[in-house]
Amino acid sequence: MKIMAICASPRGAQSQTLRLVRAVARGAAEAGAEVETVDVCKLKIRYCTACGVCHAKGACVHHDDFADLYRRILTADGLIVGSPNYLQSITGQLKILLDRMSSAIHCQLLAGKYFCAVGTAGGPGYTEVTDYLTTLLMSFGASSVGSVGAAVAIPNAIDIAEGDAVVLGQDLVEAIRVQRVYADQVPIHAERRAFFRQLVQHHPEEWAYECTFWQEQGEA
Ligand SMILES: Cc1cc2nc3c(=O)[nH]c(=O)nc-3n(C[C@H](O)[C@H](O)[C@H](O)COP(=O)(O)O)c2cc1C
Repeated sequence: MKIMAICASPRGAQSQTLRLVRAVARGAAEAGAEVETVDVCKLKIRYCTACGVCHAKGACVHHDDFADLYRRILTADGLIVGSPNYLQSITGQLKILLDRMSSAIHCQLLAGKYFCAVGTAGGPGYTEVTDYLTTLLMSFGASSVGSVGAAVAIPNAIDIAEGDAVVLGQDLVEAIRVQRVYADQVPIHAERRAFFRQLVQHHPEEWAYECTFWQEQGEA
């Protein structure tokens, strides 16, 4: 079982988000998963220019660190995705990565994977990060196992969250192992899948690669 942990704080070893991401990863590793942790801020990933080539041909025009990370995301069974709150959202570095994955949302390529969202903020706004990531990654087709976060200005908050994070990582592995079905997420996944399949079908020439993908799924 492979789990990819992605942290999107530019503060490297000083990052409190990294501390929580590592704690989730530790729990997952203790439960038997092979976990790889990536600092997305250390990678060279150019921003999406909306050229549409990924939708038409299945590959991005940019030649940078994205392709290798994307391949590893797509072959992982589980994801741990963490960001600090920057102006009520995720950091720009993580947003750029996610923008580059828009063909994966069209084709629901995270379906069958499980994830945990991790957030930190100066105050209670870490839920702005975890709520955003949870909604978004579910739109890619993945199942949410849960989230963890902390307001770093509150004494001991990060220490308490660190303990919760280890337990969450263990549960991530269990969810993957038993292929847990979250009944409340089933209709959301069905609606998102139908929405993106139909969206792609409305662009048969412009998004030829994705149209063929859905045909090969037997859903077009
Ligand atoms: C550019 C910037 C914007 C920020 N915006 C917010 C914000 O909107 N709300 C908030 O609660 N904290 C905000 N913060 C504080 C960070 O979210 C907080 O310090 C976080 O825990 C840092 O995580 P890190 O240690 O992983 O880098 C901001 C910090 C920076 C540098």
